[in-house]
Amino acid sequence: KYVSGTIENTDLDVSADTGLGLLKPTLVRTAPIAGQKPGTSGLRKKTKEFMSENYLSNFVQSVFDAVIAAGTNVSEGTLMIGGDGRYFNTEAIQIIIKMGVANGVKRFWIGENGLLSTPAVSATIRERGPVWQKSFGAFILTASHNPGGPEEDFGIKYNTQNGGPAPEYLMEATYANTTCIKTYKICEDFPSIDITQVGATTVAAADGSTSVVVEVIPSTQSHVTLLKTIFDFPAIKALLDRPDFSMVYDSMHGVNGPFSKAVFVDELGQPESVLRNHIPKDDFAGGHADPNLTYAKELVKTMGLDRTGNKIDVDGPIPSFGAAADGDGDRNMILGTQFFVTPSDSLAVIVANANCIPFFSSQGGLKAVARSMPTSGAVDRVAKDLNLDFFETPTGWKFFGNLMDSKAIFKGKDYTPFICGEESFGTGSDHVREKDGIWAVLAWLNILAAHNPDASKPLVTVEDIVRKHWSKYGRNYYCRWDFEGMDAAGANAMMEKMRADAASNTGRTVGSYTIATADDFRYVDPVDGSVAAKQGIRFLMSDGSRVIFRLSGTAGSGATVRMYIEQYETEKLDLPVASALEELTSIALQLCDIKTFCGTETPTVIT
Ligand code: G6P
Ligand code: ZN
Repeated sequence: KYVSGTIENTDLDVSADTGLGLLKPTLVRTAPIAGQKPGTSGLRKKTKEFMSENYLSNFVQSVFDAVIAAGTNVSEGTLMIGGDGRYFNTEAIQIIIKMGVANGVKRFWIGENGLLSTPAVSATIRERGPVWQKSFGAFILTASHNPGGPEEDFGIKYNTQNGGPAPEYLMEATYANTTCIKTYKICEDFPSIDITQVGATTVAAADGSTSVVVEVIPSTQSHVTLLKTIFDFPAIKALLDRPDFSMVYDSMHGVNGPFSKAVFVDELGQPESVLRNHIPKDDFAGGHADPNLTYAKELVKTMGLDRTGNKIDVDGPIPSFGAAADGDGDRNMILGTQFFVTPSDSLAVIVANANCIPFFSSQGGLKAVARSMPTSGAVDRVAKDLNLDFFETPTGWKFFGNLMDSKAIFKGKDYTPFICGEESFGTGSDHVREKDGIWAVLAWLNILAAHNPDASKPLVTVEDIVRKHWSKYGRNYYCRWDFEGMDAAGANAMMEKMRADAASNTGRTVGSYTIATADDFRYVDPVDGSVAAKQGIRFLMSDGSRVIFRLSGTAGSGATVRMYIEQYETEKLDLPVASALEELTSIALQLCDIKTFCGTETPTVIT
């Protein structure tokens, strides 16, 4: 399987390691593999490519080399490994353990059955263990919401000590390493660990000079313990126990299943029937574990909606509350009875009601909020009203992380407690450094509980809360069209054209709209001063409406064009979304001329 080559010019003296026995490292000769540049959330490729010779090992070695060069002593503290359970998860974990040992790691935490959600990794890095054992980093094996299985996608990302994704410089160094790698280190004789059993295995060197501990940890423990300190669990339980309240939580066969069981069945005493698709499957049962109206079909139907969010007739009662998670458990979708809450509205409502949640009220109230640029401006109005610090960042969770750590790491102003969210079904706070699907679900339930203090009164529903919010702040009608699998050259040319035309488009009148500003979004990080350019073409209309275009940074193959449409209304609050956005949508199609560049104007997904 692993062919050891002749060793030359290396820092590892293999002949001297004979006393190490099972801990004896081997150097394996390899060569750079093109295309190992990590995207927004790590490296994602077809599973087959990841399983091909040296592909995973080259990348993992490149991460170790970058992390060690950046000054981390991997022999101190703990390396954590876990994934979303997709095909190749367990094999990859065993390979990373063997490579970790060869690179000097002395202690590992592995999620039970190889499972750790992305937010759980973040929580566990931050919360678990005494100081000397604390995790210095983690490999997360996931391609998030991309389908899994031998014919689909696999992925790997690395998170650092603060619980957040590796900073840009570390990923750049990793990529640079992948382009010149010659050898990787692995302990081929290190035993495979039984990751189905919680407990520690110690493997000692033959000469007793050193040892390695691999501990399989209960996957849900640190995260669930943290969530219990954030929310009012007794109040949530009282809500869930009401005879007129019912909920379903669809984990879409991803890693969220065990977490939803730990929270809703074990902690909140609910029947297993609240859980849907909660047994992780290595191919997500053939589904597309992405919580939106298109892919969470089964849940959307149960909640009495179609794929555009319109009401449909269903037999039998509809639950009061529905939620779904993606493959690695960091995304969320929130639904009421025949009612879809857009992620942008969800963020605005959570912010407006943050002080119902003990985590915020106990720290003197929420201080700051942020949204990604394409996310609707609904939260902006709440931030203004509540006098909160507000930030508009490029797409990608890492920009939020800097703001959350502005005091702790950058010695700047403190923006915590902090809430942030994205239109791409991600919501969270500074309790961890990733978006957190189950956090958003509990936030909504905590808010619902606070609006329903008296069980003898009629239930205040999800829809009631959102409608009340709109009547106070106005409604940002919003939708996103995705054009997946487009020809990359055509999509790039389309973006270039809009970029080039931005100045001449500014001031132009289109239909009943005037383009107040057309530009390419650029962000200067207020914390570290770094600049992110070319973050999306914006058409900002004079009435506050917006049309935005971006190319996805996470697309599997080809290019995915995203078109975001937003119309702000203070009077007409009850229109069907499609009709509220009708004119703006056709203007958007004209502005980009996707028909000419990509040959279609029919989206593959609407959210
Ligand atoms: C991942 C990131 C999110 C980001 C999303 C955007 O899920 O974690 O922070 O919003 O990708 O993906 P896109 O495909 O639009 O670039
Ligand atoms: Zn995800």
